[in-house]
Amino acid sequence: MERLLTVRNLSAEFRTERGIVRAVNNVSYHVDKGEIIGLVGESGCGKSVSQLSVMQLIPNPPGRIVSGSVEFEGADLLKYGRESKLNTTQQL
Ligand SMILES: Nc1ncnc2c1ncn2[C@@H]1O[C@H](COP(=O)(O)OP(=O)(O)OP(=O)(O)O)[C@@H](O)[C@H]1O
Ligand SMILES: [Mg+2]
Repeated sequence: MERLLTVRNLSAEFRTERGIVRAVNNVSYHVDKGEIIGLVGESGCGKSVSQLSVMQLIPNPPGRIVSGSVEFEGADLLKYGRESKLNTTQQL
């Protein structure tokens, strides 16, 4: 199977008036081409925020990706900002 997405040690947090919320803590997984994965867990465990982090769509501030890497089709998504990805898409 060919690797499509690799998420390594992804952590994300929110700064709130009542302190830091560690929403995603050291998440790692991978998805191969043609593979479908499901994310299961109790409400508030970080399913949505982890996936928003993969796409760099968590609101910053108050949220931010603290650590980790996201590799999609061999490209390190977090190395480039959202703007640079948009520019890349526009150039295609
Ligand atoms: N904008 C925000 N500011 C502060 N904390 C937030 C924010 N968004 C999410 N969180 C917190 O991050 C944690 C993870 O939330 P998330 O929405 O990812 O959970 P979930 O697993 O998707 O839950 P559900 O099953 O209810 O959809 C929760 O503790 C939530 O309160
Ligand atoms: Mg959710």
